[in-house]
Amino acid sequence: MLIIIVSIIIGIAVLFLWFYRTQTVWVESEPYQRVSKEPARTLVVVYSRTGNTLGAAKEVANYFDADLLKIEAPLYSRDLKGQQLAAKHADEELTTTPIEHDSVNLNDYDLILLCSPTWWYRPAIPVFSFVEKHDFAGKSVFLIMTGNSRKTDEHTGKFEDLVREKNGNLLDVIFIRRGRIYWQKTPMQVNKEVLNALKDRQEMWSDLTEPKND
Ligand SMILES: Cc1cc2nc3c(=O)[nH]c(=O)nc-3n(C[C@H](O)[C@H](O)[C@H](O)COP(=O)(O)O)c2cc1C
Repeated sequence: MLIIIVSIIIGIAVLFLWFYRTQTVWVESEPYQRVSKEPARTLVVVYSRTGNTLGAAKEVANYFDADLLKIEAPLYSRDLKGQQLAAKHADEELTTTPIEHDSVNLNDYDLILLCSPTWWYRPAIPVFSFVEKHDFAGKSVFLIMTGNSRKTDEHTGKFEDLVREKNGNLLDVIFIRRGRIYWQKTPMQVNKEVLNALKDRQEMWSDLTEPKND
């Protein structure tokens, strides 16, 4: 009996520590630097709370030789308080939160890739906020989400509707499942999956821009 109780306590402690770590520790990735001196025609916009989506977004930016724009969202800090607020707001299906990023003129670009973690089956609130604040007229838009388990068409569909309301031509949505504690993919595996998904879809932007890494 004692062994069972001790095992349960250890199991709960391990789960809590894993959860605490994933929510408070930043996952580092290599710095991104554009190669070309020509102005970029592709923009990668990313929000990342713990670094996983930023790593994937850098892979995307590298593929397109794109400019990379990072969104910060001060309310969803990298501690348990920020995680709880993110969970609460996502559950309430909020779409607006204060965001900060470098100034950007979307008219400089043809193709815009939005990269976001999944929060309650849909893109994270800071990415909703970015879309709400911009006009995507004449722009092709592509959404890349990372998540532990799944998104739903119902929840993510509302984001797709918002992109269209803001005049964007939404090309496609891809969801990269990183997996849970017992089988989580490495950043390298995630990047490979992202790259393969982009290569599979290259005809979507063949008349817009030339990926440099084909
Ligand atoms: C508030 C919150 C809600 C989440 N909801 C989901 C979800 O519905 N589906 C899913 O697959 N992952 C969900 N996740 C996990 C994250 O999407 C996943 O770990 C993501 O890759 C983290 O990206 P980041 O490190 O760039 O922030 C959630 C994470 C948080 C913080």
